[in-house]
Amino acid sequence: MKVLIVGSGGREHAIAASAAKSSKVEKMYCAPGNAGIEEFAECVPIGAMEFEKLVAFAKEKSIDLCIVGMDDPLVGGLVDEMEAAGIRTFGPRKNAAILEGSKAFSKDLMKKYHIPTAAYENFTDPDAAIAYLETAKFPIVLKADGLALGKGVLICQNFEEAKEGVRTIMLDKKFGTAGNEMIIEEFMTGREVSVLSFVDGKTIKTMTSAQDHKRAGDGDTGLNTGGMGTFSPSPFYTKEVEEFCSEHIYQATVDAMAAEGREFKGVIFFGLMLTEEGPKVLEYNARFGDPEAQVVLPRMKNDLIEVVEACIDGTLDQVDLQFEDNAAVCVVLASEGYPVSYEKGFPIQGLEEFNKHEGYYCFHAGTKLQDGQIVTNGGRVLGVTAKGKDLKEARANAYAATEWVQFENKYMRHDIGKAIDEA
Ligand code: AMP
Ligand code: GLY
Repeated sequence: MKVLIVGSGGREHAIAASAAKSSKVEKMYCAPGNAGIEEFAECVPIGAMEFEKLVAFAKEKSIDLCIVGMDDPLVGGLVDEMEAAGIRTFGPRKNAAILEGSKAFSKDLMKKYHIPTAAYENFTDPDAAIAYLETAKFPIVLKADGLALGKGVLICQNFEEAKEGVRTIMLDKKFGTAGNEMIIEEFMTGREVSVLSFVDGKTIKTMTSAQDHKRAGDGDTGLNTGGMGTFSPSPFYTKEVEEFCSEHIYQATVDAMAAEGREFKGVIFFGLMLTEEGPKVLEYNARFGDPEAQVVLPRMKNDLIEVVEACIDGTLDQVDLQFEDNAAVCVVLASEGYPVSYEKGFPIQGLEEFNKHEGYYCFHAGTKLQDGQIVTNGGRVLGVTAKGKDLKEARANAYAATEWVQFENKYMRHDIGKAIDEA
């Protein structure tokens, strides 16, 4: 079959690498893709938000299956447009992608269906938000309602900071229209775990767990980023936690969406916090995590295309989802200065080393081919991933592999997966 993947990051590279192992795939395209994805798919210069061009391309090439990796096109309704043109597509339709697209929607859904999450209030009026904050407990969390590249969350220590935060989100519109509405929620403490799952509208099958490192600097210091590294599985995601989430969170979310007339097909990513009162949902995403996919998909034993098709066909109950009994760690190699300002265009050396070693992957996040040479083209450049028999070995392997790659202004965190020492 002919497959089209929509997206251009490390996540889409991991999806392409996994799909390439399927005997069902004869030809793969990726729009717009990147220099690493070229190994598996022909990259076409169409942006992920250029719906008309994407649909026309899918029709012209008789695409049998489209996989949408990124949040923006999902929330914008690319799946609906593809389906209207007769293209089988993996991902939630617009009315279900709202689970990620609107935090007010997802919080209200959790409240209505008794799914554990932080206590919160919604606001459309900045004065009402500030009045509420006058009697609130601190720290407190402000969130812009819409998509904001993972940056629309402000943790405020006192009233003055929070008041400033309301201004930033609702009046200065730092995150654009995402800030037309906002939520204010209780600050939670605990370990974070990412659980990705496949969903076919009725049935949900969770994948192996993972944990992201969102802050730019070692020891969780510095600014929030798209993610500086991941490990899988999370040793903090115990059998007990899994049972609680299965009973109160996973199926409950799928059933709630169906009950609302918003049947969800695709990937639900549960951002969980393991609090003293038990696991609670921090956020939902309607897609694979980035860089969670980079440690989860290489450990999956199933044929990705078969699982994706089962989600579309509503036959996920017949799939026995299995993961290898090992571990994986992904260390992001970024450009010095990320996430604020950084230079691009530096040649990258050493990439060929990854083809010589089983269980090692170099997923491209921000690269491009320039005059026959792969150069840096983003803040997050590469996701160096390695497997090992356990997390310690996977971490040692991943850090050893970071030495294979050289480019000017290479920057990484040195403590990805260090938390496992405390497990
Ligand atoms: P989100 O985009 O909602 O996942 O938020 C981004 C990050 O902000 C999360 O991964 C947490 O580290 C932090 N965060 C979000 N909500 C809360 C909360 N209610 N309490 C504490 N930390 C939070
Ligand atoms: N790694 C977090 C995300 O994909 O949103």
